Amino acid sequence: MSRFLLRLVAAHPAHTLAKPQRLHFLPSRSIIDLSYSTHFMDFKGSSIPTSMKKLVVTKLSQNFKEAVSLQTAPVPTPGDGELLVRNRYVGINASDINYSAGRYDPSVTPPFDIGFEGVGQVVGLGLSASSSFTVGDIVAYLSNGAFAEYTVISSKKAIPVPAARPELLALLVSGATAHIALRRLGELARGETVLVTAAAGGTGQFAVQFAKMAGCHVVGTCSSDEKAGFLKTIGCDRPINYKTEDLVATLCKEYPQGVDVVYESVGGSIFDLAVNNLATRGRLLVIGFISGYQSASGLQPVKGATIPAKLLQRSASIRGFFLPHFISDYSESLRSMQEQLAAGRLVCEVDVGEQDVGGRFVGLESVYRAVEYMYSGRNIGKVVVELQPQNSSKL
Ligand SMILES: NC(=O)c1ccc[n+]([C@@H]2O[C@H](COP(=O)([O-])OP(=O)(O)OC[C@H]3O[C@@H](n4cnc5c(N)ncnc54)[C@H](OP(=O)(O)O)[C@@H]3O)[C@@H](O)[C@H]2O)c1
Repeated sequence: MSRFLLRLVAAHPAHTLAKPQRLHFLPSRSIIDLSYSTHFMDFKGSSIPTSMKKLVVTKLSQNFKEAVSLQTAPVPTPGDGELLVRNRYVGINASDINYSAGRYDPSVTPPFDIGFEGVGQVVGLGLSASSSFTVGDIVAYLSNGAFAEYTVISSKKAIPVPAARPELLALLVSGATAHIALRRLGELARGETVLVTAAAGGTGQFAVQFAKMAGCHVVGTCSSDEKAGFLKTIGCDRPINYKTEDLVATLCKEYPQGVDVVYESVGGSIFDLAVNNLATRGRLLVIGFISGYQSASGLQPVKGATIPAKLLQRSASIRGFFLPHFISDYSESLRSMQEQLAAGRLVCEVDVGEQDVGGRFVGLESVYRAVEYMYSGRNIGKVVVELQPQNSSKL
């Protein structure tokens, strides 16, 4: 059976938080720290080790393997208003290599933590965090340093979720990007044509579904027949496997008036093709340019000189989108997607590496393999790594 037939379409009830209990974080060597191999014990007596594994950027490079090393470090202590989360799943993003190359904040120098998002269990709380969360809660979060067995996050960033399921990770960055970008910048109208590049990937799969929900005709590019098959199952009207079909010729022949909206995340020649195929008053959303990320500059050349004339001739526009700039839309977007997921109206395809030669992505060591897998274009849906800390916790 192909993997997309096995996809998870969750239908779980809305989460109801248990009545918050007043819990106090107990630091190392506190009166109930009974063992020297135990960092501290939380209110419910579950043990947390003194040390853990985490990934650290030790050298700036877009080559993830060269930039990032697996290290042993003390389990961090949550401060006031913070939670200590034992990570169960972490999400891989194309931009992990932009981050390891120092392209997000050039002023930051190594060593620094990496990993944008995780889902896991709260195992420790700083003082004021205990008014909203309790040990044992499952939370999802967007915060730096997720590639670790344990991560301290601000309780303000913690999103209570019903269970630690990998498909929730697909919503945090990938789903939210598609949801907010199309809503804020896409101006989609029923009957319009939307082209999604890297359509079978983490964020592309959501762009396809949200464009379809808006009543649009959706064209999606991908690199294999298996991906094209997956795209059909999520409503893509015209999947194009660019390895076997000529993309330029297909678009010219089948969409001679051009496409109204492009959700573009590949860059380089695909960006040029998107500009050339915009309809009158078309909108090209620049979501990313993955084809350039592995180069030293992070960019892939485009035919810039002709862009103004092409836009003017069609009253078309190019709009950049970067999720952190739309954070005010984030909670509402996540709530809406969680509702759609629970109702079975949204597919969150996750890829945990079962088709990879090395097998399922389990443990922090496999983050390297997962990044490589994504960059070889093999993933269908969101790439997710499962973490299994080695301690024998009661939680
Ligand atoms: N702007 C934002 O805030 C934001 C947020 C999230 C993601 N993004 C962007 O969205 C894009 C997708 O990110 P993602 O994390 O969801 O990854 P993804 O789509 O799950 O995986 C990457 C996919 O890109 C395609 N691809 C095309 N050319 C490629 C190349 N030269 N090298 C590697 N892959 C190539 C491959 O699929 P096919 O070749 O089969 O199509 C591959 O499976 C990236 O550009 C990323 O930066 C932007």
